[in-house]
Amino acid sequence: MSHILVTGGAGFIGANFVLNWFGTGATDGIVNVDKLTYAGNRKTIASLDGDARHVFSQTDICDRAALDQFLATYKPRAVVHFAAESHVDRSIHGPGDFIQTNIVGTFTLLEAVRAYWSALDEEARAAFRFLHVSTDEVFGSLEADDPQFSETTAYAPNSPYSASKAASDHLVRAYHHTYGLPVLTTNCSNNYGPYHFPEKLIPLIIANALGGKSLPVYGDGMNVRDWLYVGDHCAAIREVLARGRVGETYNVGGWNEKTNLDVVHTLCDLLDELRPKAAGSYRDQITFVKDRPGHDRRYAIDARKLECELGWKPAETFETGMRKTVQWYLDNQGWVQDVMSGEYRNWVAKQYAA
Ligand code: NAD
Ligand code: TYD
Repeated sequence: MSHILVTGGAGFIGANFVLNWFGTGATDGIVNVDKLTYAGNRKTIASLDGDARHVFSQTDICDRAALDQFLATYKPRAVVHFAAESHVDRSIHGPGDFIQTNIVGTFTLLEAVRAYWSALDEEARAAFRFLHVSTDEVFGSLEADDPQFSETTAYAPNSPYSASKAASDHLVRAYHHTYGLPVLTTNCSNNYGPYHFPEKLIPLIIANALGGKSLPVYGDGMNVRDWLYVGDHCAAIREVLARGRVGETYNVGGWNEKTNLDVVHTLCDLLDELRPKAAGSYRDQITFVKDRPGHDRRYAIDARKLECELGWKPAETFETGMRKTVQWYLDNQGWVQDVMSGEYRNWVAKQYAA
């Protein structure tokens, strides 16, 4: 069986990608390498336990010897690189892990892959792909009437998270230009959907609403994000992996620019409909809290390159995706309770103390 190597496949997007991969008739197996930080959860991919097409290993991408061994054993035809520290607020409290995993980890992976790829025969070398999953946050912040980010927008990262992702994007680009490694990079907007760790806005608001807690909105709630359902992001990655032009970057977005307050109102209204409170609305729990330092005002993605070149289009609208997501969280409270471990409670106490 041929394989692809996935990093970070027990996290939010990586796990959705792995689970979806086998649902789309793909014939390759997956070697899934994940350190299982607080954000990685083995239970998310438990349905694949015992499935010979999926090999999981708790491994740090900074561990060069382990990476060499996986590459030599499974001889993957591609690598899809999700593994990262991904939460902006955590990067503000402690940037060190972001530098280590997002920059040093990506570098270590690139070096291991370069050595493996260089030794392949000519046909396998030409067919090989390294797909780097990145974010729109590398482009910085937009004013209200600025055009959306395109693939040629200059990088201007503002948080330790986005700066570390920008650095990793540059390394990936350099490995193509310098060594000829066949790379592809995707820069995607904010994802939402099943298995999203409840430190991020959407799952946090759902969890707090159901728990009768306050719904913390940073600043004036008017920061804008462009939201994409995670299944649509995974479909875009499959398209780029299969047919993207080597060395190119592709922006991925949902054409769904919403203020944070709009998002929180939508969630409250869906919960009012699907799990009404005894009295009043979930909107009554909204609380404005101190803003995030250096909070980017607006992100927006122009996804026309991906749509025109590869024919990708999001299948979900904001309305259908949000409804599915809220329903998933209502149906999967066990998963949420499970990931709200002691570490999660420590984080909430630190972040929302003020
Ligand atoms: P996540 O935090 O939910 O998952 C990250 C996964 O990587 C976890 O399973 C974690 O255990 C693993 N990991 C962390 N450090 C590791 C290491 N050193 N070695 C091996 N595994 C390690 O993140 P996510 O939201 O699924 O994001 C995945 C990727 O997509 C990231 O690269 C992120 O920058 C990018 N991205 C995310 C979004 C979003 O909205 N969530 C949007 C665009 C791009
Ligand atoms: P987040 O989900 O952390 O993603 P990102 O910072 O990568 O865009 O946050 C989305 C938006 O929601 C961002 O503008 C910050 C805001 N936010 C809140 O208002 N309250 C919260 O408790 C959180 C976690 C985020």
